[in-house]
Amino acid sequence: MKKFLVILTVFALLFTVVACSGGQETGGEGSENAGGDKPTIGVTIYKFDDNFMSFVRRAVESNAEGKADLILNDSQNDQAKQNEQVDMMISKGVKSLAINLVDPQAAPSIIEKAKAADLPVIFFNKDPESAMGTYDKAWYVGTAPEESGQMQGQLVVDSWKANPDWDKNGDGKIQYVLLKGEPGHPDAEARTEHSIKKIKEAGIEMEELELQTAMWDSVKGKELMDAWLSKHGDKIEYVIANNDAMALGAISSLQAEGYFEGDKFMPVVGVDAIPDALSQIEKGVMVGSVLNDAANQGKATVELALNVAQGKDVLEGTSWKLDDNKSVRVPYVIITLDNIAEAQAAYE
Ligand code: BGC
Ligand code: CA
Repeated sequence: MKKFLVILTVFALLFTVVACSGGQETGGEGSENAGGDKPTIGVTIYKFDDNFMSFVRRAVESNAEGKADLILNDSQNDQAKQNEQVDMMISKGVKSLAINLVDPQAAPSIIEKAKAADLPVIFFNKDPESAMGTYDKAWYVGTAPEESGQMQGQLVVDSWKANPDWDKNGDGKIQYVLLKGEPGHPDAEARTEHSIKKIKEAGIEMEELELQTAMWDSVKGKELMDAWLSKHGDKIEYVIANNDAMALGAISSLQAEGYFEGDKFMPVVGVDAIPDALSQIEKGVMVGSVLNDAANQGKATVELALNVAQGKDVLEGTSWKLDDNKSVRVPYVIITLDNIAEAQAAYE
């Protein structure tokens, strides 16, 4: 019996090793078709296990269908692994790279590799910011992150004004907790800063009870909210989350404490407008979100990567525009019950 277990464990370990080191050609056809007429694009996603990025990935795949072969990699939240994946894709002869960095500060090392191979690179979702200026064949597809913060702030302002009873201690201030995304991620930094700024500009005083990172993650969001609820309980008057995954984690923590039943309520806002958040908005649980348009970001990423893979102008045949940092910025949209269909359409 013991021997059997040992053998089983060895097999399980072997399998894990193979599964982790593999990861490479989820797109499959890549290398076989290298001689065909469709160019091969090397794509990395910082981790497949990210709610929002799973929608972007789907959009990348569907937009590439019939036009490009993809070598699609899960970088498993490991920058060293991503660097190896990029080397591998370059050695397989990809015609362009589409890179969702693990670490937004790691752009220079990817650019170095792309430069050495004279390959164009489209970064997406994690903005390389100033590193873009170091390579003429680098572009970015994402958003203007401060816009999402401002819109989320506006959601808080409008809902707070419409619901005077949310000021539970009646002091005119919002006692809030904030779930932050990955520190150093331009979206997390800008949303944290600009949401609060917008609310203050509207003349509402803010009192921060807690602010910590839950790394964009639902489970971590729930854990933090559990701790904050046991510390502050009903003194918390608003939950502001940098993304919906963390907002949904907070909601499940609140539900376990009896919120959203009877008249026990806690306002929660997020960003992304992913389908699970939309259904909470429909139920009247979540106040609203800000649409982070996964479908269009995936589409723009493929269109640009395909153009440069074929030696065309990066925007040829598209309706995208570049800003002065060679970046396409897909607009955000405030989402409440009133216009929820708009967000549903973006995630179909
Ligand atoms: C999204 C987050 C996501 C992150 C990944 C952000 O733009 O709002 O939900 O986790 O990108 O980089
Ligand atoms: Ca108050």
